[in-house]
Amino acid sequence: MGNLKGKDLICTQDWAKEDLDKLFKLAFEMKQDRFGEKYLDLLYRKQFFMFFFNPSLRTRQSFEAAATELGAHAQFLEPGAMRLKTAKSAGETIEDAAQVMDRYAFGLGIRMLEAKISAYGEADEIIREYAKYTKMPVISMAHDKFHPCQGIADLMGWMEWLAPEGKQNTGTLAEEFNPEALAGKKLLLTWSQGALCRSWCSAQEAALIASRYGMDVTIAHPEGYELDPEVIASTKANCEENGREFVETNDAEEGYKGAHVVYSRNWMSPEAYQNGELLKAAEIEKAMKYSGWTCTSDRMDMTDNAIFTHPMPIDRGSEVVDAVASGPNSCIFDVAENRLHGQKAIMAATMAGFLD
Ligand code: CP
Repeated sequence: MGNLKGKDLICTQDWAKEDLDKLFKLAFEMKQDRFGEKYLDLLYRKQFFMFFFNPSLRTRQSFEAAATELGAHAQFLEPGAMRLKTAKSAGETIEDAAQVMDRYAFGLGIRMLEAKISAYGEADEIIREYAKYTKMPVISMAHDKFHPCQGIADLMGWMEWLAPEGKQNTGTLAEEFNPEALAGKKLLLTWSQGALCRSWCSAQEAALIASRYGMDVTIAHPEGYELDPEVIASTKANCEENGREFVETNDAEEGYKGAHVVYSRNWMSPEAYQNGELLKAAEIEKAMKYSGWTCTSDRMDMTDNAIFTHPMPIDRGSEVVDAVASGPNSCIFDVAENRLHGQKAIMAATMAGFLD
């Protein structure tokens, strides 16, 4: 457990479990008392810089809303307009840019993934480089390896939907932070075909944080769609620490049996980056040849009345059929809403020191 003011959030695995517990509790309190007096001016007139190398709907809008609701201003920055040094062009170094930005702002968010990098792992290195040269917290807004804000919103939604005492599958807010709702429940994280060629960040973050909170984790994918071996090793270790099961399978259906949470998502193969670029068209063509990996109603019938979850945007018809994505067990919009409350808690904790 530590002092959270100034703490970076690049992956939830970097945070002590006790600190994540405190963060979840605050996020639920903020959800229940969205415009409570004690939160309104926590970041009065302070700046949160948002570096978006890639497009976004949820992340940009929820961070801007979160900043406004805490009295701050979120400044949208297009890296292309800043003369930054890149692998291919001369310009300002991260060391210099980060130290200048640190004089203006109180928090820095960065999104960098997919075609904006030349190899897996590059964005993680760049974000950690910014963190090295800033005193303000650096928050990943999704990068090639991790998506911590999404992982926090995912778990908030699953805790709400799997809450006991008649609240299950109602989408209503649990009374309070309830990690027991997840312990011993089974997450199926399954690859699916799709035309968006996704980075591994959301899937990897979900595997890590779910295993941290005592879930059994099954990861299903066709051969050749393995995730980062280091992340798999950490997920296995989290499961072992909690006495839970970790399974990796190439069977498209097996993992549905007994699942409580189904997370169906396309991700790119480890061969996606070649000679310094993302071969997006080839990846999509390869993925769309797999016809048997869509999440369907028949497959959901094999589960233990599982909820369906997805970070969005959804590639409907490929990743999941409409009947499931828009069905009574879909928690996708609650999870999307929780981006706002989770990020308010992250900003309050790391930028204002509200939990210290
Ligand atoms: N889930 C998520 O990060 O959505 P956006 O890409 O729209 O921000």
